[in-house]
Amino acid sequence: MSLEGKSRVITTHKLLEMKQRGEKISMLTAYDYTMAKIIDEAGIDIILVGDSAANVMAGHETTLPITLDQMIYHAQSVMRAVKNPMVVVDMPFGTYQGNSKEAVHSAIRIMKESEADALKVEGGIEIIESVNRILSTGIPVMGHLGLTPQSIHKFGTYSVRAREEAEAEKLIEDAVALENAGCFALVLEKIPAELGTKVASRLKIPVIGIGAGNGVDGQVLVLHDMLGLTQEFSPRFLRRYHNLHDEMLGAVKNYISDIKSKDFPNEREQY
Ligand code: KIV
Repeated sequence: MSLEGKSRVITTHKLLEMKQRGEKISMLTAYDYTMAKIIDEAGIDIILVGDSAANVMAGHETTLPITLDQMIYHAQSVMRAVKNPMVVVDMPFGTYQGNSKEAVHSAIRIMKESEADALKVEGGIEIIESVNRILSTGIPVMGHLGLTPQSIHKFGTYSVRAREEAEAEKLIEDAVALENAGCFALVLEKIPAELGTKVASRLKIPVIGIGAGNGVDGQVLVLHDMLGLTQEFSPRFLRRYHNLHDEMLGAVKNYISDIKSKDFPNEREQY
């Protein structure tokens, strides 16, 4: 296959152009081949192989336990499916915060072994050395500020961030630092809409929100949440587009009942 044939349609440059012409960017998580194939077919701009896989795929309470190997496995599965969207992979907790040398090592492993397009990291000025080192290798980096789930034990809750002026100012400083370092985009999670709008208009790079209001340059949701597969998680920002939980439950109940009643398989379903 030619190099051109392999390259993704959505690039960092295209995302910048989308922001400049006011076209909103769509982003969803995916962790496996089948789901990634469907959301690619639907025309999504960015797929995030999020460390939320720790929650929705593995059942952990936080995103902290997921490992580099597990993230690479999810990213490889998604990459086998995807043609058009940019694929961004979350760097898992503990693989980039400690020191920048380890950050580069982790980043290179994800990019080499998954062939994804970019990485996402949580945090601002405190991780800027790692961000710089990763960017220096030529890997595109997306930032993530506001509610950063890898720091949940520092925050103590999943409540809205940066309501207070000091925290809002720190968030703006962090956002500017990430843009100046060379990040190509930024995720803002669970912050007041007014602050989301302020950051998006201050930065040249696209700002993608999850619970950051409508004044940002794009939106991201966790696929399993917006499809209604997960039920226990119901923040205000979550719009459910389906109730797959109930549909699956009904389908599986019908299957069990057809087996028990000896209706399945019927004449046409056997050899
Ligand atoms: O891991 C994830 O799914 C994320 C999104 C919530 C932005 O980081």
